[in-house]
Parts: sequence; structure tokens; C-alpha cells
Amino acid sequence: MNSEELKRLVAQAACDEVLKLPAGECLGIGTGSTANWFIDLLAPHQSHFAGVVSSSIASTQRLIQHGFYVLDTNQVSNLPVYVDGADEINPQGHMVKGGGGALTREKIIAAMAKRFICICDASKQVAVLGQFPLPLEIIPLAEAYITRVLTALGGEVRLRMTGTASQPFITDNGGWILDVHGLTITQPEQLEVQINQIPGVVSVGLFAKRKADLLLVGGLTGVVAVAHNR
Ligand code: 5RP
Repeated sequence: MNSEELKRLVAQAACDEVLKLPAGECLGIGTGSTANWFIDLLAPHQSHFAGVVSSSIASTQRLIQHGFYVLDTNQVSNLPVYVDGADEINPQGHMVKGGGGALTREKIIAAMAKRFICICDASKQVAVLGQFPLPLEIIPLAEAYITRVLTALGGEVRLRMTGTASQPFITDNGGWILDVHGLTITQPEQLEVQINQIPGVVSVGLFAKRKADLLLVGGLTGVVAVAHNR
């Protein structure tokens, strides 16, 4: 099975999981290629849900094209489940996210949700987080300061640029992204707290305090479900 087939497989498993919810609930939906599979496969079942909240403009557009009723997060007070991909996940269910630059909205919706279902292929499973560069969404005027702080913590910091590399990548919230390379994240919860306290950081793509409750991981033998206690 190639990587797209694995993403489709876990997305289908996530659909089966969320369709166990009683009808009329809201659902949180993330961003990225695996989340896109989930959106496409869930589309025929959209009437099962009162509406959905989305972690990016790109996902919202895809959802609207399929006819989903997309709610503003401020309209939702009860969110049983959030489904999203990850860039890395460790055996404890801590994740690095934000490869698509949507980390801040992903964090907000993950925090709102009772359960976080992470969907990914087995290549995202790591023993220790940090091989994938850790994304930070920042306020642009703090770039140089935050770069110095993260460099002192042992990271190699790169400002994320657009595809043409001519200007900084701009998030849906108007922020910039710093990708921090070279970290070996042995204490994800502590590092998340530490980076959150740096002035100018909007959010860090470490999902350790709010980790995945259920991991659906696609591999050569099919989908394996791993539950993580909080
Ligand atoms: C976007 C994310 C994505 O969940 C993460 O990058 C995984 O994406 P993909 O499913 O395309 O591998 O955090 O900000």
C-alpha cells in the first residue's frame, strides 16, 4: 500500500469511529492531506452531524464544497470529537503538528474537544519527537527575539517561506511560522509550557498537554487503534 492508500484507510476508520456518535452532534475537523481524505469520505454522511468546525481556511473551503454546514468555533459549546493528522507522534500520544501551518486553530479546536482522534500512517510514529521541525506561529515583530531564544535552547530556526521563497508564509491568522530544526524533545510537556511562555509566540506545534486520546495508524497490516489515557 502506498502512503495515499494508508491515509485513505485511516480516514475510513475515523469515519466509522465518528459515525458511532449520536446524530446531531458537532464535529471538529483538522487540516492536511489525511484530514482531506477524512472530509471526502465523510461527505456522504454529513447529515449525521449538526455541523462541523474546521482548523483552517483550506479545510473550510473543502467542507463547504462538499456541502457541510461549517460553524464558527464561537458558536459551538459542545464538541465531542476532533479528528486531525499529525507530523509526528510518540508512544505516549504526544504530537508535533503544524506542517500545514494551521497549528493555532488546531490547538484551539483540540482544546475544545472531549476526544482527539489522530489519524496518520505508520511513518509518523517516532520514539522521540523532534526529527520533524517543530513549528511555532509567531507575531512577526518578535521573529528575531524568538529566534535567539530557540537557538539558545539548541534549535536551528528557519522562517517558513512561501513556495517561491520570496516572502514569509502567512498563516490564516496573519502570523509567521518559525520551523525549529534539530531538537530532541524528550520532555514534550515541559518544552510546550516553556515555549508558550516566550513573548510573541502565538502557539507551538507541540500537542503534549492536550495529546491524542485515540491514534488510528495505518500500516501494512491495516489500521491499528491505540488508546492513550490522559
Ligand atoms: C497541519 C497539520 C497536519 O495535521 C499535519 O501536517 C499532517 O498533515 P498530513 O496529513 O498532510 O501528513 O498539523 O497544520
